[in-house]
Amino acid sequence: MKLLHVVGARPNYMKAAAVMRAARAAGAEQLLVHTGQHYGARMSDVFFADLGLPAPDHQLGVGSGTHGEQTARVMMAIEPVIDQARPDWVLVVGDVNSTVAAALTAVKLGVRVAHVEAGLRSFDRTMPEELNRLVTDALADLCLTPSPDADANLRREGRAPGAIRRVGNVMIDVLDANLARARERGLPARLGLPRNGYAVATLHRPANVDRASSLRRLLALLGEAAARLPVVFPVHPRTRARIAEAGVPIPGGLRLEEPLGYLAFVSLLDGARLVLTDSGGVQEETTAL
Ligand code: UD1
Ligand code: UDP
Repeated sequence: MKLLHVVGARPNYMKAAAVMRAARAAGAEQLLVHTGQHYGARMSDVFFADLGLPAPDHQLGVGSGTHGEQTARVMMAIEPVIDQARPDWVLVVGDVNSTVAAALTAVKLGVRVAHVEAGLRSFDRTMPEELNRLVTDALADLCLTPSPDADANLRREGRAPGAIRRVGNVMIDVLDANLARARERGLPARLGLPRNGYAVATLHRPANVDRASSLRRLLALLGEAAARLPVVFPVHPRTRARIAEAGVPIPGGLRLEEPLGYLAFVSLLDGARLVLTDSGGVQEETTAL
């Protein structure tokens, strides 16, 4: 069986790593396409090294842009790749713009699509991810779900039971597989932080960071927490850009860092007393930890 996996943004790498590893063990032929939605050492390269992902067979290099631009660029760039490879399945993960763009392109070429992490819903259509999830799940030939609530959402939307397959949470499979290696990184000690005596914060949802007033309020709250225990804040590039644009002051005690690699970040989460986050993946990882 020939599989073509698509990754684009930070949370995609972990999920694809889990699926590629299982498919390799099952003897599948695999191709990996990186759309380039996220790029550079800290938002891309480090994850390939940490997760042992093979170098992508195709780098589409689409980069940043508006939703329309980014989605269209992925579609234009991936169409000839899928058409030439003619895989048995295109595997898309999560809910980023690269996910919906690749799924729509593949089904129009008559190539079957499997969606990993299907069926999740926030029921908030102001979130770009919710629109990506709804469209991808409506198009996918196979919806691979993490949990019973996801199955129920898909059935309610009219997906046939035969198109829904519960496989569990691949993000947590990857966490289990890498936790011991992550702990060896010893991030808390390296940053001079007492185990169970610090907090970690991440923020990147547009609803939280794109409006200066919300961003200001959230940073002030993190500042209040930082008055009571050290708060380490690896800053997502979207958030870094919004902080600079809005000239939001950084409260004293809040420790800004560059985005961390996967093993370093999991090591930091593992030693934390408290995590403050709007990340989908980090919510799952902290729950499991
Ligand atoms: C994207 C996903 C979001 C996911 C998040 C994970 C969509 C609609 N959003 O949001 O669901 O939770 O990734 O991190 O697909 N930038 C860089 N370097 C990068 C990537 C982005 O500097 O490597 C900056 C650019 O200024 C860019 C901005 O961040 O315009 C936003 O990037 P984008 O990929 O559009 O969305 P994210 O906020 O990263
Ligand atoms: N992550 C990371 N370094 C960071 C922040 C997050 O490796 O500095 C990892 C985190 O452990 C999880 C994934 O990135 O596996 C979540 O990605 P993100 O928060 O960007 O996106 P979301 O899950 O909200 O879509």
